Parts: sequence; C-alpha cells; structure tokens
Amino acid sequence: MCGIVGYVGEKEATPVLINSLKKLEYRGYDSAGIAVINSVADSDESIIVRKCKGAIKFLEEKIENELVRNAINGNVGIGHTRWATHGEPSDLNAHPHTNVSGTIAIVHNGIIENYAELKAWLQAKGVVFKSQTDTEVIAHLLNYFYTQEDSPSKGDIFKSVQCARQKLVGSYALGVICKDYPDRLICVRKESPLIVGLGQNENFIASDVPAVLEYTRDVLFLEQDEMAVLYCDHVDSYNGDGEKIIRKSFHVDWDLSSAEKGGYAHFMLKEIFEQPKALHDTLAAHIKDGGLTFSQEINPEEFNSMIHNAKRIVITACGTAYHAGMVGKYTFEKFARIPTVVDVASEFRYRDPILDKNDVFIVVSQSGETADTLAALRLAKSKGAKIIAITNCVGSTVSRESDYVIYTLAGPEIAVASTKAYTTQLMCLYMLAIQFGFIRGEIDKDEYRKVLDALQAVSKKAQTILDNQTEIQKFASMQFNKEKIFYIGRQFDSANSLESALKLKEVSYMHCEAFAAGELKHGPIALVDKNTLVIAIATEEALYEKLISNIIEVKSRGAATMVITNDDTGIFNESCDSVISIPKTDFYLESMLSVIPAQLFAYYCSVSRGNDPDKPRNLAKSVTVE
Ligand code: AGP
Ligand code: GLU
Repeated sequence: MCGIVGYVGEKEATPVLINSLKKLEYRGYDSAGIAVINSVADSDESIIVRKCKGAIKFLEEKIENELVRNAINGNVGIGHTRWATHGEPSDLNAHPHTNVSGTIAIVHNGIIENYAELKAWLQAKGVVFKSQTDTEVIAHLLNYFYTQEDSPSKGDIFKSVQCARQKLVGSYALGVICKDYPDRLICVRKESPLIVGLGQNENFIASDVPAVLEYTRDVLFLEQDEMAVLYCDHVDSYNGDGEKIIRKSFHVDWDLSSAEKGGYAHFMLKEIFEQPKALHDTLAAHIKDGGLTFSQEINPEEFNSMIHNAKRIVITACGTAYHAGMVGKYTFEKFARIPTVVDVASEFRYRDPILDKNDVFIVVSQSGETADTLAALRLAKSKGAKIIAITNCVGSTVSRESDYVIYTLAGPEIAVASTKAYTTQLMCLYMLAIQFGFIRGEIDKDEYRKVLDALQAVSKKAQTILDNQTEIQKFASMQFNKEKIFYIGRQFDSANSLESALKLKEVSYMHCEAFAAGELKHGPIALVDKNTLVIAIATEEALYEKLISNIIEVKSRGAATMVITNDDTGIFNESCDSVISIPKTDFYLESMLSVIPAQLFAYYCSVSRGNDPDKPRNLAKSVTVE
C-alpha cells in the first residue's frame, strides 16, 4: 500500500501536500512526489512535478534546493509516498505519473492487474513509457480518452477518468489533475481506501485520515467505485454509475497516533487484520488466465526449465521467514514430490554446504536486507544454484541479487513481529510448490485448477477467523501469566507451531517452545506441570486422534490445554479447555489460517502483560547485522 494526498484551496498546495504526505509515511517510503497545477500564466510547465527515490525528506530537500530558481506556485495538487509493487524504487518509478505532454498527472494506490496488456496496447499506439510501474498506464489511458478525436470523453477530464477506469482491472485509489481544469481535482476509489477531507474554502483527498487531521476532522469515506470532484468551495460526489450522490460527512475524533493505526490500538493488530487483503493481493498478482504466473520480469521458458531440472529445493531464511520455509518444505514435498531441505541462514552460511546447479535455492525475507540471509544467498550463488527470492520489499538487496523474485503484496509491515508477511510468504511458497508440481507432472490440470480455487478461498476464510476472535481474547486473558507454554503439532502443523511460539515469545516475553507433538514423550513432557499451557495445532484429520492422545497426556499432568483446529465435530471438546475453530480448506492450505489465532493469542497476551507489541524489547524490525 502507499499513501496518496491531494489539495484544492486558497493556500499554496506544495507545503500542504508535503505535510500531509509525512503523516502517511507509515504506508510506504520507497519514493515520494508531488504534482501542482502551475498558477504562473504561460509557463512552459503546465503541471510542475517533483519526485524522487527515498523518504519524503529527500523530496522536501529537492524542492527546497530548487525553490530559489523555480518556485512551485499553485493551489491544486496531488502527492504520493510509495510502497513499490511494480518497478523498483527509483526517481522514474516514483509517482506522480503524467501523460506524455505533461498536462495530466495522477497518483495511485493499488495494483493494476492487467497493466501488461494495457501497456502493450498503448505502446502499439506509439505511447512511450518512462517507468516500469503499472500505474503509468493509467496516465496514458487517461490521455487517450481525453485527446482522441473519436473518444466519447474528448476534452472532458471527468468523463475521461470514467472511461479509463472501465479498462482497469485491479485496485486503485486515484488522484487526478489536469491543466485544463485548474480549479479541481478528481478522485476515484476501487478497493484501495480513499477519503475526502472537507475544509473551509479548501478540500483534501488522502489514503487515510492522519493526512488531513491537521486541517479538518470532517471527512467523507469514499465507498467502492465512487468518484469525487473537489473544488475550493465544494465537493461533488458520484456513485459507480456516474450519478451525483449526497454523502454524509463523518466527524473524526481520533488522535493522530491511533489514526495512523487505522483505529487499531497497535500496528501489530492492524497488520493481523490486513491479512485477508494481503493474501488476496499476493495471489491475485500471480493468477492470470486461470493459471499461476510469476513476476513479469521472469522469463517463463527459463523458469520452467529450471523447475523441470531441479533435483532439490533448499530454503534458507531467518526467524519468521525460516518458519515459513519449514512450512514450505511440506508444501514442496506434498505438491511437487521434490526433496526439500530448510536451514536457518546463520547456520547455512558456515557449514560449507553441498550445493550445485541442479539445486533451486529459495531465500525468504520480508525486508530483503537481513545480513545472514544475504550471506547465504551469495554463498549459494557462488556454488551455481539458481536463486528464487520471496520478499515484501521491491528493489531490496535480496531481490536485486536473486535470479527470480516472487513478491508478497503485504504492504509495509511496521510492527516488529511479522504477521502478514508470514502468511503471504506461505501463499508464495504454496503457489511455487503447486507450480513445480504442475510443471513436473505431479499435479494434473484438473487438480491444478482445484488447488487454485482453494487458494482463492483462503482470503475469505482468514476473514472468518478474524470475525470470531472473542474466544482467543478471552483465553489469553486467562493464560497470560502461565510460566511455560508449548505449541505442538504434526506435519504442516508442527512447522506452524514454530512460528506460533516465536510470536508469543517476541511480544509477550513468555517462555514458549514448539515441539513436533510426537516428540513430547521423548523428553519435553518432563517439563509439564500445572503452570504449563499446551496449545495444539490440529488441521490434519488423519492425525486428530494422535493429537488428542498428546493433549490427554499433558492434561493428566496438570497442563491447561487449547487447540486450534479445523475440526467441526467437537472431537477436541473433552480434552481441551479452549477450542479455537478455523475453517477447513482442501489441499493442506490451513497453514495460512491456523497461525492467525496464534498471532492474536500472542498479541492479547502481550497487551495483558502491559507490553508494547509493536516495539518488543531487544528486537529490531530488520536485522541487517550478523
Ligand atoms: C519475526 O517476527 C521477527 N521480526 C524476525 O524473526 C524476522 O522474521 C527475521 O529477522 C527475518 O527478517 P526478514 O524476513 O526481513 O529477513
Ligand atoms: N502499484 C503502484 C506502484 O508500484 C502503487 C503501489 C502502491 O500502492 O503502493 O507504483
């Protein structure tokens, strides 16, 4: 996600845009930019665009340095702080983007899923693109409908926005300005959030409330497909059919800090609740014509032959990303029947590993900057392995040094404890394993389609869990003082137990360990007493009975017990003090779901113990040192 802002009023737009963007920097900081309709008559720059890679402060410096020579005068403008999804962070890929003549400028939050086709269609008409982004197609599409002789919206920027958006597939919150309409700003919302701030002789747009709070607390929350045209002294709103509507404004009484968290108490909770959208966006970006497709930059033939020739998968990562790799082991061996080994990067890099060109080496890293992971990547590369990166940060070092990159589209993850990055990493590993299985003939066409359908259903199932979190919150309020907590599971669930345990450790500081359930009797059960809580993760029906035996073993030694399960027959009711139900999926996809109750449990235990879940002691968001 990124942040867009816009202003129409009596003030100079530039300082308002910069100030508003700063309040949205938590939404993305890869690059920033503004575009202002030049109020200086007969200037050769009808719309002044200033943009650059990096945080907003670099844009501010760029503008201040130029101010002497080239003041930016204008009362109508748009701004953007970027979280890149298509095209690495750079000056050219920074928003705003314009049409070739520079008379129309736009800012965009979202993903244009059909941008490749639109780009080819526009290039065939002679349009020359400057950037690698999906967003730029919108600027040229607008220009097409605004200038083409046979266009139904020729010369009308509002109608051109209506025509252009009919061609777009995906998500977009757009701010649009046009030099021929210097008194207005047009915006439209589809999926990505967008608000209108209602001031006195000034009006604003923004991706989120914090951007406008300094100027007004009266806002309109645009609904799906709605558009608005902002003038200095009024705002016209339109529904998806282009009919004018009257929207009731909302008075915001949040403080700035809680507004940045979208009304959630902490970023961690906000990011847990962002998982349905993150899972949807990550999958949607890789589904095309009923099949899986990976990043536009990947050469399909080369990618497929790598898949065919692979003898082994080696997954390396750290922390939460390593736990995703542990789940990945089960997915590759289940779907692709290919031997898969997983190692923490800090171990891999020092054990003189045996690797060769027939190994596919997968690095997983939210930040793409973790020192141990980078070192492991470079070692694998030196031994001739092909490198696939799964990362959340476009243009990160890991992404630049890998042969192939699969992006999670989780958006910025601010909380130190990784949540949405983890589940979207799992989504990427499932997608890759399924593609390996299909290309290598382990999965036939029919099963491939069924698995893809099951993947597409995961997002809504994640929402179901979040809609029913009361039991988790209640159980956390009863258990947050336990001295020892064990997560247990089998197969996919034992891998997810590792991540569940880490979440609890990280934010509640409670001592927690994860064991393969079958290992309890080989030692760890000696630790079990009345001060122990054992949480079982049970999503494989064939193994339910085994888990019930483990639960009974620990319960008989005084432990409190909770189970996170997709069972809907009540089979765990007798042995567990708390049963957290999650929806069933096909094809072992529950890993993306069963971790969500564990994330919530960790969050609520942390808060009950008076901790700040967003900034846990001793930890940093990105470990760029050894
Ligand atoms: C996870 O909650 C932690 N913040 C930490 O374990 C993290 O997963 C690890 O440092 C790896 O970071 P990366 O994904 O950015 O490489
Ligand atoms: N997809 C656009 C880009 O990559 C916008 C990204 C966003 O919304 O963060 O520039």
